[in-house]
Amino acid sequence: MIEQLRQIEEEALRELEAIEEEDRLEAFRIAYLGKKGRLTAALKGMGKLSPEERPEAGKTANEVKSRLSGAFEARKREIEDRKYGAGQDLLDVTLPGRRPIRGHIHPITGVTREICHIFERMGFRIVKGPNIELDYYNFEALNIPKDHPARDMQDTFYVSENVVLRTHTSPMQVRVMEKQPPPVAVIAPGKVYRRDSDVTHTPMFHQVEGLLVDEGVTFGDLKGTLTAFAHRIFGRDTDVRFRPSFFPFTEPSAEMDIRCVICGGSGCRTCSQTGWLEILGSGMVDPEVYGFVGYDPERVSGFAFGMGIERIAMLKYGIDDIQLFFRNDMRFLRQF
Ligand code: PHE
Repeated sequence: MIEQLRQIEEEALRELEAIEEEDRLEAFRIAYLGKKGRLTAALKGMGKLSPEERPEAGKTANEVKSRLSGAFEARKREIEDRKYGAGQDLLDVTLPGRRPIRGHIHPITGVTREICHIFERMGFRIVKGPNIELDYYNFEALNIPKDHPARDMQDTFYVSENVVLRTHTSPMQVRVMEKQPPPVAVIAPGKVYRRDSDVTHTPMFHQVEGLLVDEGVTFGDLKGTLTAFAHRIFGRDTDVRFRPSFFPFTEPSAEMDIRCVICGGSGCRTCSQTGWLEILGSGMVDPEVYGFVGYDPERVSGFAFGMGIERIAMLKYGIDDIQLFFRNDMRFLRQF
């Protein structure tokens, strides 16, 4: 047995010496040191030895194995050194590292933050409230009576008779005023829900609500604040206009338009040939609403506004399909 092991070692070392190419090294390793190699095969004969012979043979086998492995590694090193240059590691530390792919925030989150930041700098405070809302806050206290068409099952997701998925962020006006006395200046971003789905509507979308109430607040303050906002988000030379409108919880009410960002006002498909794009609803808080929160309409006045964030983002980036925001297509998202 011992004789046989020594012979294998001798042959192996001779063979190893003659190897010059990298790919033959592996064949050598398999032939001698592998699971089905000659060394392993020789060791299988161990069982046939007498108990006295065994320790000596085992010791020799281990020695041969470690010598052969050592010689193999040394030869491998030699061949590699010759190929890649002596003393050089296979690792080229001068190569630039592989950067992990970094994610970034979703365009809707980005635009929400931008809008909120603009109002925060004007002194508004950010507040948040529930998506699942009482009928009372979503409708009743906003002067939207039971028979108002907005309450139609066609438009509103009802959780139960008195609980809805909020259809706008306006309930936050009531929640805030009910908790604190005037003055208030808050901005409330969040998700809202309506039963609607096409290229400009999704059943869930985002709004930002604004509310400012104090003594002596006028429609001029509304116009000034919202014009300043439009200039910050769409650029200093964006033209704006206010159009009379109606909301049950504001009086008077107005919608704000910006000059069409696509055609510059000459008329195109995006602006339906009008040259203008509606970006938000607004108005002076209706005295009826003050009645629900215990504010004195003789003493205070204020304005409120609400805008769809997807709409702002679509106009800002020239996106024509709202569904893109929710499809999680990386080709779309990577552009922001
Ligand atoms: N809540 C209204 C909407 O969803 C927008 C709005 C908010 C209008 C505040 C006036 C005042 O369309």
